[in-house]
Amino acid sequence: MLIAEKISKKFAGIAALEDVSLELLAGKVTAIIGENGAGKSTLMKILSGVYTEYEGRIIYKGEHVRFTNPKEAQDSGINIIHQELNLVPDMNITENIFLGREILNSWNTLNKKTMRYKTQQLLDKLKLNVSPDTHIANLKVGQQQVVEIAKALLYNSDVIIMDEPTSAISDHEVEVLFEIIRGLKKENKAIVYISHKLDELSRIADSYIILRDGKVTDSGDMASINQDAIIRKMVGRDIKTTVREHRVSPKEILLSVKNLSLKANKRAGKIILDNINFHLYTGEILGIFGLMGAGRTELLETILGMHPKTPISTFTLQDAPLKAKHPHDAIRAGIVLVPEDRKKDGLVLGMDVMKNISLSCLKKTARQGIISKHEELELANKYISALKIKTPSSNQVVKNLSGGNQQKVVLAKCLATKPKILMLDEPTRGIDANAKNEIYDLITRLSASGLGIIVVSSELPEILAVSDRILVMAEGRITAEFTRAEANETNILKAAIPKTI
Ligand SMILES: Nc1ncnc2c1ncn2[C@@H]1O[C@H](COP(=O)(O)OP(=O)(O)OP(=O)(O)O)[C@@H](O)[C@H]1O
Ligand SMILES: [Mg+2]
Repeated sequence: MLIAEKISKKFAGIAALEDVSLELLAGKVTAIIGENGAGKSTLMKILSGVYTEYEGRIIYKGEHVRFTNPKEAQDSGINIIHQELNLVPDMNITENIFLGREILNSWNTLNKKTMRYKTQQLLDKLKLNVSPDTHIANLKVGQQQVVEIAKALLYNSDVIIMDEPTSAISDHEVEVLFEIIRGLKKENKAIVYISHKLDELSRIADSYIILRDGKVTDSGDMASINQDAIIRKMVGRDIKTTVREHRVSPKEILLSVKNLSLKANKRAGKIILDNINFHLYTGEILGIFGLMGAGRTELLETILGMHPKTPISTFTLQDAPLKAKHPHDAIRAGIVLVPEDRKKDGLVLGMDVMKNISLSCLKKTARQGIISKHEELELANKYISALKIKTPSSNQVVKNLSGGNQQKVVLAKCLATKPKILMLDEPTRGIDANAKNEIYDLITRLSASGLGIIVVSSELPEILAVSDRILVMAEGRITAEFTRAEANETNILKAAIPKTI
């Protein structure tokens, strides 16, 4: 279907891709694998007409093509589901899906009825249970990702590129997507699948190519390679997987949450959080698991002061009442949140790495009220090296970093506030397997230094790997609590499934 020959691409003189060749076969899924910043998204943006300046040739259906914009690529049948979501927040799902290809009536007016109907069909197919009229701004990241997928499916494309389509969705939705991919294979579409979840790749991909620092290090049949070998080829050496040592259970209560309830103000009566009670101890890593919509994010947001109507008696921090009416108060008290949606809540995309990192603690970098460039730079460089953020310099605009490296900047920004409590909402979304382990190590080290850490994740292996203790949530309630020793995938999942479907 498509052959890319010796593709090279530079950004400001720095090579992002060097002599990369690739073949996409009709009816097959090709996996592109590589660490954060390896060049995967860049390669896909070249194939789909986003980047027009590059060296090398693309042969599509036997003809040499050189797209001058994404629309041209789309029209000829190449479509991409972008890693960073590209929806218009103030428009609804239907409007987003049909943006730029609206269906018109004979009077040249919008045929809203047909567009809405088609959107409904797509949402049904993808089992996303929301109205086509919902504004994007009211959707969770995972739901937005499903809308992105729907948008790509509407085109009748021959090449469908999926750049981390499952980074924000749960196992159940992954199954729905896989079912759709199998259908697309039967229709002889060529599919590119990018994911850091290696077990997904071995299930869905037929062949793979591995990129390291913009060069191909290996390629072949998916069935002929195992995960260890993939990781070796990705990072160029063996990596150690750390096994967490047994730790003495901490005793001192850092944060306590009493009778926390939260109601949605829009639809009266809908309870988001229902009488939540728990403690977080110093030096503890508390994992919170739940399916989408269980209330995990809302719980973290409430602790951060984003739902200020909660009664004052609800939280105590080191035995003193915590009165956070605004995230600002929480940060000052020593509580930070690494949010789920880095693009919307975590970063100022147009600012550079340094400014983003120092943003949450400007006072610390100021001398007599004036921000000291020197302090800012020192702070930024400290975290760039501690978290191995791959960026040409601290002056690079965050928007230009690879997805995983953007996530590391959010983490850096939070750590720079020197928190007592670090809350992480899906902290390793879009982070490669090796960097994930580094982040787990980092979380462990931080907790050993006395921080209390709350990790929310929909990846069970992640929760099991990092937590000292695990709370399970369903329908706004805590449905189970396990120690590290008691917890396993079965009992956690059982507690996470809502009782009232
Ligand atoms: N628009 C840009 N301007 C400057 N540099 C860029 C730009 N886009 C990407 N880069 C750089 O090119 C390299 C490859 O980035 P790319 O986004 O392709 O990585 P990736 O393999 O998709 O990583 P991830 O797994 O984190 O998504 C990175 O070093 C990145 O910083
Ligand atoms: Mg990418």
